[in-house]
Amino acid sequence: MSTATFSTLRTQFAGLPIADLARQFGTPTYLYDAKVIAEKVADLAAFDVVRYAQKACSNLAILDRVRRAGALVDAVSAGEIRRALAAGYQPEEIVYTADIFDAAALELAVEHKLHVNCGSPEMIDQLGDVRPGADVTLRVNPGFGHGHSQKTNTGGPQSKHGIWHDQVDDCLRRADQYGITVTGLHMHIGSGTDLEHLAQVCEAMERIAQVVGRTLTTISAGGGLPVPYRSTETYVNIEDYFRLWDATRNRLAESFGHALRLEIEPGRYLAAEAGCLVAEVRAVKKMGDNLFFLVDAGFNDLARPVMYGAYHPIAIAPRDGATDRPEVDAVVGGPLCESGDIFTQKEGGYVDSRRLPIARVGDYLLLENAGAYGFVMASNYNSKTRPAEVLIEDGEAKLIRRRETFEDLIRGEIIPE
Ligand code: LLP
Repeated sequence: MSTATFSTLRTQFAGLPIADLARQFGTPTYLYDAKVIAEKVADLAAFDVVRYAQKACSNLAILDRVRRAGALVDAVSAGEIRRALAAGYQPEEIVYTADIFDAAALELAVEHKLHVNCGSPEMIDQLGDVRPGADVTLRVNPGFGHGHSQKTNTGGPQSKHGIWHDQVDDCLRRADQYGITVTGLHMHIGSGTDLEHLAQVCEAMERIAQVVGRTLTTISAGGGLPVPYRSTETYVNIEDYFRLWDATRNRLAESFGHALRLEIEPGRYLAAEAGCLVAEVRAVKKMGDNLFFLVDAGFNDLARPVMYGAYHPIAIAPRDGATDRPEVDAVVGGPLCESGDIFTQKEGGYVDSRRLPIARVGDYLLLENAGAYGFVMASNYNSKTRPAEVLIEDGEAKLIRRRETFEDLIRGEIIPE
């Protein structure tokens, strides 16, 4: 199994000089390498359908490139449905997956006749009322889950996600009342889990598929494929994973007497390694024994470390192009007026340090593997404008979202008379 390699000193991203990109587009900026996205979609070609979980990175240009690479798309909100349509997806290529319908999402799902993946029994009733006779998927919580953090575990009794596995019968009866046919079964136990836990889903899928029976034409393995964030971590073996699911699908197909479509629904796997956040070092200061590199990106730009204690590879890109710098232990933090604004922290908020080349003010710093759950989780906290996004394709850097301005920040705010 191959391990990932990360270097702590870099001069290039996607074949272009980082310092030039930072000067051209300013900092902080998300950079994406289009080639990586296309490669990741291609990795999963054995599955009948790769359905991109756009919550990971939903810029229209990224959706467009994912679409051109041949992946279909998942949407979890009215906004994501509209993004998918705006990026050129046909309604039949979009699945709405959620645990509830809000008014806007239900309206769009009905207007565009979207296939719905129901994560609660009530969704069947609510869709049935306005679209009797529809085909739906049931998202089932198999009773167990696993993720890189408790906050990304989406199975088991503590999770709000999906239809509890022993309520499937009840849901089939509800569906019957509206002439709704359950044609799909979906399970997603968590994000950033491991192959061992993912493999357990096959067994649960097979058992519950037998409860639903022969109306099923599609099973979805959900998302959750991990990517390595540290040099010690390995890539999952996609072939092994596919084989497990293929065997499950084939047994079901034999039992039902018809073919079944096998879907996978990755977010992180397609986007994480394609993107990084580039920031500028603005201060290098000592606090007791700790050396802090303070950069102009904060948890308003990349929330994963403060939210989950997530580890992102960090590299220094020296402004002067130096390829050799002595190393030190440094804490990397941002500009926000909150002590949790630290990129090198462990779960629970404990400040950690990282062995990095000594940085100087004006150097650039890369937070890597930030393409998934990076920009999409950015906020305007401390009245910071959200960063620019840039797509690098065939050696050319293209702006795909301009940096927000002060006008963007206050749009919609009203001072009453
Ligand atoms: N399908 C469903 C139904 C999901 O809920 C998710 C993720 C995915 C697919 C995609 O999972 P992935 O392949 O990306 O692991 N913000 C967190 C991750 C939250 C994931 C939520 N659902 C993070 O930064 O790690």
